[in-house]
Amino acid sequence: MCGIVGYVGYRDALDFLLEGLRRLEYRGYDSAGVATVTDDGELGVSKSVGRIAALNDQLATWPLSGNLGIGHTRWATHGPPSQENSHPHFGGDREIAIVHNGVIENYLALKEELEVEGYRFRSETDSEVIAHLIARSLNRLTVCDDNGTIEPGELAAEAVRVALASLHGTLGLAVLFRRFPGLLVAARRGSPLVIGVGRNEHILASDASPLAGYTDRIVYLADHQIAVLTANELNVTHRETGPIRHHVQTLQLDARQVELGPYPHYMLKEICEQPQSLADTMRGRFHSEDATSVFGGLNLSPQQLRGIDRILLTGCGTSWHAALVGEYLIEEMARLPVQVEYASELRYRNPPVERGTLVFALTQSGETADTLAAMREMKRKGHPTLAICNVVGSTAAQESDGGIYLHAGPEVGVASTKAYTSQCLVMALLGLYFGRMHHLGYDAGRRYIDGLQRLPELVEESLECRVEAQRIAEKYADCRNFLYLGRQHNFPTALEGALKLKEISYIHAEGYPAAEMKHGPIALVDENTPSVFIMPPGFIYDKVLSNVQEVKARGGPVIAIAAEGDRRVADLANDVLYTPAVPEYLQPFTTILPLQLLAYYTAVLRGCDVDRPRNLAKSVTVE
Ligand code: G6P
Repeated sequence: MCGIVGYVGYRDALDFLLEGLRRLEYRGYDSAGVATVTDDGELGVSKSVGRIAALNDQLATWPLSGNLGIGHTRWATHGPPSQENSHPHFGGDREIAIVHNGVIENYLALKEELEVEGYRFRSETDSEVIAHLIARSLNRLTVCDDNGTIEPGELAAEAVRVALASLHGTLGLAVLFRRFPGLLVAARRGSPLVIGVGRNEHILASDASPLAGYTDRIVYLADHQIAVLTANELNVTHRETGPIRHHVQTLQLDARQVELGPYPHYMLKEICEQPQSLADTMRGRFHSEDATSVFGGLNLSPQQLRGIDRILLTGCGTSWHAALVGEYLIEEMARLPVQVEYASELRYRNPPVERGTLVFALTQSGETADTLAAMREMKRKGHPTLAICNVVGSTAAQESDGGIYLHAGPEVGVASTKAYTSQCLVMALLGLYFGRMHHLGYDAGRRYIDGLQRLPELVEESLECRVEAQRIAEKYADCRNFLYLGRQHNFPTALEGALKLKEISYIHAEGYPAAEMKHGPIALVDENTPSVFIMPPGFIYDKVLSNVQEVKARGGPVIAIAAEGDRRVADLANDVLYTPAVPEYLQPFTTILPLQLLAYYTAVLRGCDVDRPRNLAKSVTVE
């Protein structure tokens, strides 16, 4: 969702801000804007509805000078996408400019109060109240400081701190002050912010991607912290405890990782990166001698781990689908009962969760509001709660009791692909880990390791269906409905395949366990509704084959995702995408690739914005 960038230093702020906003485009947005403290000491602003390219064109005609500025991509919540509702917003008489991520819950009451005092509102947003509140607190503080003894940085930070005290809700915030042309204030409560520490410059951003290529020194701002950034200094204070020593960490992010390279879209790039991302996820995580897996950050003693007799997995969207794969894999490998919950339901449902349950929150971004809330709820109830996430230093990583990083590399396309297979791999690694702790023998452990280690090569082979996937996409791109059907390990794949198609091509698609077809979805089958059967070999194969017959008997086209060498399916299905023949526990990895490709090519053929599908956001930071 919304993205924030900020810059103070020696460069032309605008150059950095526009490049930074481009790197944040993947988060999903509908309008964008920037503000700088211009060379003549004013707060200059430029905003535009639509893509960054439109803002760029506008700025080519009316550029903004200055070495200090903030920028924002907005994903509309309060008020539609429009020039007025885009950030930055001004406070007071153009004294303050702010950009905000998050939601202010009590903005209506504050707005009324400020309007009575004479503050004029220009937008329908909740964010504008923040700008006026800061302007008001700055004016009041200035009156009290009649000798002018308070340092500009301290005064600016205090004005923000006072304003924040009246706000309920979440925020990641960046503030410019006309009176303080050398500094930028940032504050965090619930919405992430990072600071890049450069030579004679500081960078602010809502995630690390804008920093790549500028600096590898990063500070993760924590909740309730306020930072004052100048070209040469960074001072961080905590809302209650005052000044704190910030911790500068090294960012492992290469600018090339966030660039498109030879690919037309990030989604295709990320689909094709899966052999590498899976290799990165498993690197250093096998212990061959003990035939098990190892994790560095679970932060639980061997005794605590041995006491675990249930697992609860939670997440949203694609991460929830990976949790479903986990249910099959962990139950099979470890014989531990696994419960999977939508985070958005779990946070309010209050189900009885037994002692001895270990909770894992799966989240690529580590910022999904519902997943964070579910995590906090489980922690509050006293269950050890770990995060499985991709983004290093994310809120989930910071707030959990421990966790496992995916190491899949930055995922930019809104539709998750490589993070999904890495999440599924972590599920398999956990199955192996807990399996070896309980009933799983050495030989079986070794066999699982051998199989999992082949994944990069197997997934590479699955990618060979690329040309065929494109051909099939051409054949069915005009259909309005698709069914995705699979059983057992391939049921979550059916859900994920349908979600991919829906997200990026806007075709209605439903995933079902194949045998459930008779209880409703079969009514949809006709010659214009393709059914995608995920049907690699397994003990249930013949039953799925019967389901295929049922669809064919009703005139429905069948696209099969099958294993190399499967002759029976070739006779029956209209189209087949072949993947390597593998045991069932590896099928979720090999069969999802053709479905990702099918969705991708279908969306491209339909002229959709594959990396930035309408209405969707990469990290959903509101409830
Ligand atoms: C959004 C994204 C999905 C993602 C889901 C959960 O809906 O568009 O791709 O699966 O959020 O995100 P998370 O970062 O928690 O995995």
